[in-house]
Amino acid sequence: SRVGQMSSASFDAMWAALEPVGRVAGGGYRRFAWTAEDATLREWFAGECARRGLDLVTDRVGNQWAWWWDGPGTVDDAVRAGRRGVVVGSHLDSVPDGGAYDGPLGVVSSLAAVDALREAGVTPQVPLAVVNFVDEEGARFGIACAGSRVLTGELSAERALALTDADGTTYAEALRAAGRDPAALGPDPQTLARVGSFVELHVEQGRALVDLGAAVAVASDIWPHGRWRFEFPGEANHAGTTRLEDRRDAMLGYADLVLGARHVATQRGCVATVGKVRVVPGAVNAIPSEVTGWLDARGPQEEQVVGLVEELTDRAGEMGATVTRESWTPTTLFDAGLSDRLRAVLGRQDEVSVPVLGTGAGHDAGILATAGIPSAMLFVRNPTGVSHSPAEHAEREDCHAGVAALTACVTDLVTQAGATREEHPR
Ligand code: GLV
Ligand code: MN
Ligand code: MN
Repeated sequence: SRVGQMSSASFDAMWAALEPVGRVAGGGYRRFAWTAEDATLREWFAGECARRGLDLVTDRVGNQWAWWWDGPGTVDDAVRAGRRGVVVGSHLDSVPDGGAYDGPLGVVSSLAAVDALREAGVTPQVPLAVVNFVDEEGARFGIACAGSRVLTGELSAERALALTDADGTTYAEALRAAGRDPAALGPDPQTLARVGSFVELHVEQGRALVDLGAAVAVASDIWPHGRWRFEFPGEANHAGTTRLEDRRDAMLGYADLVLGARHVATQRGCVATVGKVRVVPGAVNAIPSEVTGWLDARGPQEEQVVGLVEELTDRAGEMGATVTRESWTPTTLFDAGLSDRLRAVLGRQDEVSVPVLGTGAGHDAGILATAGIPSAMLFVRNPTGVSHSPAEHAEREDCHAGVAALTACVTDLVTQAGATREEHPR
């Protein structure tokens, strides 16, 4: 269709504009919160919204919301009249050497869907927004979904502001350097009150859709998951002159953590990863005096993940380690009514049964769901399933199918009754 061609062209142009931003040798991306790359991405987003005449509002946390509402009255008037908004979007930041799709696919598809709605002459009966959540990956300050966690109050401003990056820069200092007032950081119920429902489109981070032969799926749930910091103590000394029996080598405890994580995860049917390590002093010829390892643990059941971490904490305790939980996200169920509705819309569009997939990956949509906002996700096929890597990919044809799917869903949500909640959560 003409609308399809137009939104595909719009998608392609935006994708091409984003491609060079924050790309590093090896083809991956380093787009971390409140860095120069992030500023470029935020300006790009603001520019795309301005081009479309969307009304850009930045919340207390720094998340960018671009509203389309032709009245009557303001978005807040509409909310007061019981017409909460439909929100679509995702994030633009990345993990270290991440792929191009995790995050940006959702933001770009959302803007392309706005174009498709306009081309088709759809008049939203409720406000519609595209959101760019800040700091979803937590790559710089350690807490994933920091933008949505502070927004909903799940993460306190006090704790967020004190987080430090690898250079010792605090979140507060990073905000100031990006031209924001750290004192403004905090939960933003007024922003949340505008959100009647949230739909996040995301590249699939596994390869279920390849096997199912489908381009798009609807999400069901997110595994419980968390991050823990293990600090192993030791004593620095000379690597050549210190007898083995005289050593206190912090690396040994860390090594036990890495192997233990794999072993216990296998036993308990979970996944566990130690993907980040800091060694002090970090010299080839010095015995490590301190090793910090970060554990990421996830699984289908909360009790399994909790049991895994308890077991590893006990083992590490025997090595003198201190263990600190940095974040925890309980089992997240997406809104069944909203998800069924999206599935019905997509089923009508393609006359096929749309797959429903669970995931082990965290998302801002999960944080909003936990805060009581009806939320759902669409996944777009990933031919290899690889994610959080430069090799992450989605075929362009599938990206366009994702835009078409999102367009159909949003069209339904902004034109049909019962799309958004009347009640405020909690
Ligand atoms: C976010 O991508 C996460 O699941 O770590
Ligand atoms: Mn990610
Ligand atoms: Mn993501």
